[in-house]
Amino acid sequence: VVPDAAWRDEVRRLAEQRNAVILAHNYQVPEIQDVADHTGDSLALSRIAAESDASTIVFCGVHFMAETAKILSPHKTVLIPDARAGCSLADSIDAEQLRAWKAEHPGAVVVSYVNTTAEVKAETDICCTSSNAVDVVRAIPAEQEILFCPDQFLGAHVRRETGRENLHVWAGECHVHAGINGPELAERAAANPDADLFIHPECGCATSALYLAGEGTVPAERVKILSTGGMLTAARATRARSVLVATEVGMLHQLRKAAPDVDFRAVNDRASCRFMKMITPGALLRSLREGVDEVHVDPEIAERARGAVRRMIEIGN
Ligand code: 13P
Ligand code: SF4
Repeated sequence: VVPDAAWRDEVRRLAEQRNAVILAHNYQVPEIQDVADHTGDSLALSRIAAESDASTIVFCGVHFMAETAKILSPHKTVLIPDARAGCSLADSIDAEQLRAWKAEHPGAVVVSYVNTTAEVKAETDICCTSSNAVDVVRAIPAEQEILFCPDQFLGAHVRRETGRENLHVWAGECHVHAGINGPELAERAAANPDADLFIHPECGCATSALYLAGEGTVPAERVKILSTGGMLTAARATRARSVLVATEVGMLHQLRKAAPDVDFRAVNDRASCRFMKMITPGALLRSLREGVDEVHVDPEIAERARGAVRRMIEIGN
């Protein structure tokens, strides 16, 4: 399928026919981002999914995102163009592992990243995304022990920002972000001394970036640890002429649209999420034509997960 004008018209026509809203994550291929009704980070898309009055949500992202939309709107039809679009980070903890961890820390509050399965969310007190993780943890009384899962790098970022010693972090990671490493970042930063650094907190190199700032290699105000949505806000505000971006490469499309005069470059241009890229123009068309792949969440699991997801979308709103 060629994502040309005829494809776009057909996608829009079918979406209207189905009374469907098309949501696309910032890591989708540019054509899908551009045909969607809304493109954004995981928190923004969750909020839109919760508020939309369309009867069908077509989620162009990965499975946990579509599941989150279904948890929030159990009566809506939620479609994902390819149900095989998983997430290595969500796979790094399952409900049984979380139950065992909770048993080791009775009374601890469980904060789970939205990149988790519905079953893990059902064992969670409050979910967060990269854009509100720090606010979510700050909203929990200081003396309260916290279990934070599954991303170790986001966990380390939250611990640094909040200074919480009683925050225990699960050792999970996203293979794409973990693969953007410190030496690579240091090399790029040295070759582009005037560039801002936009770094997603899931990156293994976030600590290295702060280290570079600490030793004066990069001025501290140029190092920004941001969610994908936060990167867009920062892109509109930056006075730098070039920005090194440490996240999945799909992000470059929205950044370039937001600030066309800035030169955005990936720190690692192989940082592409194969799960996000399973949502192809052909898959989106098939999804709208055939009403597939429908996302189902066991109603009892959804009921138990809903409170944690609702708390997430309320904090920082
Ligand atoms: P955000 O859009 O919340 O920054 O999340 C990034 C991510 O890895 C989603 O898969
Ligand atoms: Fe999951 Fe990483 Fe892909 Fe995001 S980029 S969907 S966290 S595997």
